[in-house]
Order: sequence, then structure tokens, then C-alpha cells
Amino acid sequence: MNDKIYHLLNEQVKHEFYSSFLYLSIASYFENVPLDGMMKWFRKQAKEEQEHGMKIYNYINDRNLQVELPAIEKVPSKFKSIQEIFELSLEHEKKVTRWIYDIYDLAVKEKDHATHVFLHWFITEQVEEEKNAQDNVDLIKLVGDDKSALLVLDQDFAKKAD
Ligand SMILES: [Fe+2]
Repeated sequence: MNDKIYHLLNEQVKHEFYSSFLYLSIASYFENVPLDGMMKWFRKQAKEEQEHGMKIYNYINDRNLQVELPAIEKVPSKFKSIQEIFELSLEHEKKVTRWIYDIYDLAVKEKDHATHVFLHWFITEQVEEEKNAQDNVDLIKLVGDDKSALLVLDQDFAKKAD
């Protein structure tokens, strides 16, 4: 495998685990509001991000290379509003998509067909992730300052997290 692709894949393991930490941090915020539906939803996202990280970890090993885990930066823990949290999640998912596209572009350029095919799953997954994150931003904006609507929305999140 090309060194740069190897480096970016290791970085992507980190990005996925960073996402997991970010969503765990957000889940803890919601647990303390308390809004249990949103808490459950973000816990579920955190678990999925860990699985994404492990998929890449396993792929590196499957290519007979050792994983070199980078340090994970500190995730935010102070949030000004619920809307800010959902906007932050959306921006983060867009960033993740761009990182995956960067690896994909390089895999195509370097004719690394295996990595190219491996990344298809992630590209499809990001469509779903961005859609969910965008829907959440739109929903929280619709709710505005209406506390009872927020509680109804929270119940929807609980259902989605089941
Ligand atoms: Fe992910």
C-alpha cells in the first residue's frame, strides 16, 4: 500500500474514534439536561462510529500492515444550545465525508483498487449520516423555543435510537 494512503487510513481510524468521543460527550450533555431520547440517539451514534473505526482498523490489518494509532484531540464538552449541538454534528459529518473523499481520490489515483472498493461502504454511509444530521438541524429549528415540542421531538429520538 502507498505510504500516503496508509497514513490517511490511520488518520481516518482516529477521525472515527474522535466522532465516537464527540457523540459520547454530547450524550452526556443530554443525559444531564435531561433529554433521554437525544441522549440515547447520540450514544447509539457513538457506538456506530466506533464500529466504523474498527472497520478501517481491520482493513489495515487485512492488508498485512500494522495500525499506527494517532492521538485523539480533545472533544468539546461545553455547548451553548441544543441547536448548536446539532449544527456541530452536521459540520463534523461533512468534514468526515471530505476526509473519506480525499482517501478515495488518492486510492483512485494510485490505482489501489482494494482501498477504492473498501471505501464505497463509507461513502454510502456518509450520505445517510449527513441526511440524518441535516434533518436534526431542521427539526430543532422547527421546534424553536417551544418546550413541549422539544419534549415530543425527544420522544422521536428515543424511538429512532431503539
Ligand atoms: Fe463514521
